[in-house]
Amino acid sequence: MEKAIQVKGLQKSYKKLHVLKGVDFEVEKGSIFALLGSNGAGKTTIVKILTTLLKQDSGTATVNGFDVGAKPDYVRQSISLTGQFAAVDEILTGRENLIMIAKLRHLTNPRQVADDLLNRFGLTEASGRRVSTYSGGMRRRLDIAMSLIGKPQLIFLDEPTTGLDPEARIEVWKIVKELANGGTTVFLTTQYLEEAEQLADRIAILHEGKIIANGTLAELKNLFPPAKVEYVEKQPTLEEIFLAIIGKKEEK
Ligand SMILES: Nc1ncnc2c1ncn2[C@@H]1O[C@H](COP(=O)(O)OP(=O)(O)OP(=O)(O)O)[C@@H](O)[C@H]1O
Ligand SMILES: [Mg+2]
Repeated sequence: MEKAIQVKGLQKSYKKLHVLKGVDFEVEKGSIFALLGSNGAGKTTIVKILTTLLKQDSGTATVNGFDVGAKPDYVRQSISLTGQFAAVDEILTGRENLIMIAKLRHLTNPRQVADDLLNRFGLTEASGRRVSTYSGGMRRRLDIAMSLIGKPQLIFLDEPTTGLDPEARIEVWKIVKELANGGTTVFLTTQYLEEAEQLADRIAILHEGKIIANGTLAELKNLFPPAKVEYVEKQPTLEEIFLAIIGKKEEK
């Protein structure tokens, strides 16, 4: 299998804080890879290194075959990044945001590209409104839509659903699944086990500077004692209840 990302012995410190202590992993082309870790584990640090926004202290990382240190321009041309905090312009409308990015990417038909994405992400109705009036879920959808302009082969999503309600989260999951079905490689970070469970072909857990587990969901489940698995399985039930109640309300 071809690799979209290869990371070997990656280390990074911020002054005295040794955040990454030798991180290794690979991501196959066309797959969804989830990096799990608690607050401050170093997930965003890894995303920043892989997207050329930050230099590692040691170790190597290649993205779409390009070394992030030696060929940052090639890396940037082959990826897109949706950062942890929405990068949309508040003063512009949703449509204007998309057109701006399409123009920056030198596409020949920026308006058409914008309208297609607005439609795909269910934002057509809100397209003429300033983003400052959007809900968190709408912003996230617009943010992801912006990162799809120019059809990147690999997309980085840093905590794409943090702060979203369950409905908006499921919408984002649907989008991510569609992307992967279309052949895009997706690298996402999350603090939600269920998100990784729903989406990822492979899951890696970052803890105290290293990848302490890496495998398919089935492989990871085998690592835990049954009692733990039962606890994990209870979480979606609450979500299901929530969604069922919301659904009933909307039917009325
Ligand atoms: N520019 C910086 N200068 C100093 N310390 C930093 C810097 N950026 C991150 N850190 C520290 O490095 C550690 C890892 O941060 P990082 O943002 O990579 O974690 P994360 O896994 O993305 O966390 P979260 O889930 O909260 O987003 C944290 O302790 C953070 O405070
Ligand atoms: Mg982060």
